[in-house]
Amino acid sequence: MTWTPDSWRQKIAGQQPNYPDAHALHETETKLSGLPPLVFAAEARELRSQLGDVANGKAFLLQGGDCAESFSDFSANNIRDTFKVLLQMAVVLTYAGRLPVVKVGRLAGQFAKPRSADMETFDGVALPSFRGDIINGSEFTEAARVPNPKRMLEAYHQSTATLNLVRAFAQGGLADLHEVNQWNRSFVDNNPLREQYTQMAERIEDALEFMAVCGINANNTPSLHQTQLYTSHEALLLNYEQALTRKDSFTDTWYDCSGHMLWIGERTRELDGAHLEFFKGIHNPIGVKVGPGIHEDELIRLIDALNPENEAGRLTLITRMGANVLAEKLPKLSRRVQAEGRKVVWSSDPMHGNTVKASSGYKTRSFDSILTEIKQFFGVLRSEGAHPGGIHLEMTGQAVTECTGGAYAISDADLAQRYQTQCDPRLNGDQVLELAFCIADFLRES
Ligand code: TRP
Ligand code: MN
Repeated sequence: MTWTPDSWRQKIAGQQPNYPDAHALHETETKLSGLPPLVFAAEARELRSQLGDVANGKAFLLQGGDCAESFSDFSANNIRDTFKVLLQMAVVLTYAGRLPVVKVGRLAGQFAKPRSADMETFDGVALPSFRGDIINGSEFTEAARVPNPKRMLEAYHQSTATLNLVRAFAQGGLADLHEVNQWNRSFVDNNPLREQYTQMAERIEDALEFMAVCGINANNTPSLHQTQLYTSHEALLLNYEQALTRKDSFTDTWYDCSGHMLWIGERTRELDGAHLEFFKGIHNPIGVKVGPGIHEDELIRLIDALNPENEAGRLTLITRMGANVLAEKLPKLSRRVQAEGRKVVWSSDPMHGNTVKASSGYKTRSFDSILTEIKQFFGVLRSEGAHPGGIHLEMTGQAVTECTGGAYAISDADLAQRYQTQCDPRLNGDQVLELAFCIADFLRES
C-alpha cells in the first residue's frame, strides 16, 4: 500500500467523531485544504534536528501547555501567561542542565480529546461525549454534543492567532533573558521556598551582568532576547490533520503543517490503526505516548514502524505510567531500546498516570506524585545509560487550583476555588516553576 495523506481512511480509526452531515464535512475539509499552512516545513525540520540533539544527550526537551485548548478561554493574556511560564522554566533548566532547552508548547492546535466512552449519561439522559472544542460543545445538551465540522475552521483560526502572538512574543522582547530571570527573581522572593531558589536566580543575573560588561548584550547578540517556541498537539482528529498536510516543495516530502510536532495518544497507537498509517507518511518530528501496559516487543515494533530509518530526532517516546509504576516498568523497556540501538528521545509525561479523584469529587493530581514520577524517570534512564531527554506537562500560567500540593500546599478542599480546566487538572504557574527548580536538581546530579 503506498502512502497518501488519506490512506489512513483504509484503516480503523479510533476516537473519531461521527459527523451526521457528510456534505458539510466534505465542504469544510476542502476549505481547510486550501488555507495556508500554520507552520512551515523547514521549521519542522529544524525542530527535528534539535530533537536529534536531545536524543544524543546534547539538549533537553520542555513541552507543556493546556490539556485542551478551548474556544472560551482564548485570550491574549492566557497565551502570554503560558508563554511566560514556559520561558521561566526554560531559563532554570538551561542554567542547571548546561544544555540548550528545546521549547515546545502544547498549543495552537491542542483541541481534540480521546474519551473512554462514546456516550455520557447524566440524570438518566445519554448524549455523545464531549470530544474537545474542535469537534463538539461541552454543554450537556443534545444540540451542543452533535459533532460539527465547522468547528475545525474555528480551531484553525484560533490556532493562527495563537501562533501569531507566540511568534511575536518570541521575537519581540517578551523573551529577553534578563527579563525572564527578573520574573524568576520575583517568583523566588515571594515563595515559601525562597532560600532554595534565590541562589540560582542570582547566579543567572550575575552571569548576564558579567557578559554585559564584556560587551555581550541584546543589541549585538540577538539570541539573548529571542527564542523559538515550537507548537505541538495530539494529532487525534485525522480529518483536520489530513486537510493541513502539504507537500514541501523543497524536499518533495509531506508535512502535517497544523503544528511543528505531533503525537499519537496511548489509546490510538495500534500498529495497524489509522493514526499510525497517517504518521508514517508525514516528516514532522513525532511523539508517541507510552503507558505501563506496553510490552518491549510491541515497543520495538512501534518504533520501527514510525522511525524505520532509525533517525535521531524523528521519534520521541513520552512515558506516562504513574509514580512507582514507572520505576517498575521503564527499566525493561529502556534496556531493550538501548540494546537494540534504537535512537529515540525519552520524555516524561508525569501527569496522566497520576490522575486521581479527590474526596471533593474533583479530578486532581498531586505535586508529590508528579515529582516522584519525574525523579524515577531520571533515575531509571540514567542507570540504563540512556538520556532522560525531556518532560511533557499539562500546565497553565494562570493561578488555578487543579493540582494539589506544592509550596502553597493546595489541599483537596482548595480545589473548588479556581478549578477551571475543561479537561485534566493542570499545574499552575507557581507549581510549574517550583517543579522546574526541582528538575534542575536532577539535571545537576548528572
Ligand atoms: N536564545 C536562547 C534560547 O532560546 C537564550 C534565551 C533567550 C532564552 N531568551 C530566553 C532561554 C528565554 C530561555 C528562556 O535558548
Ligand atoms: Mn490530558
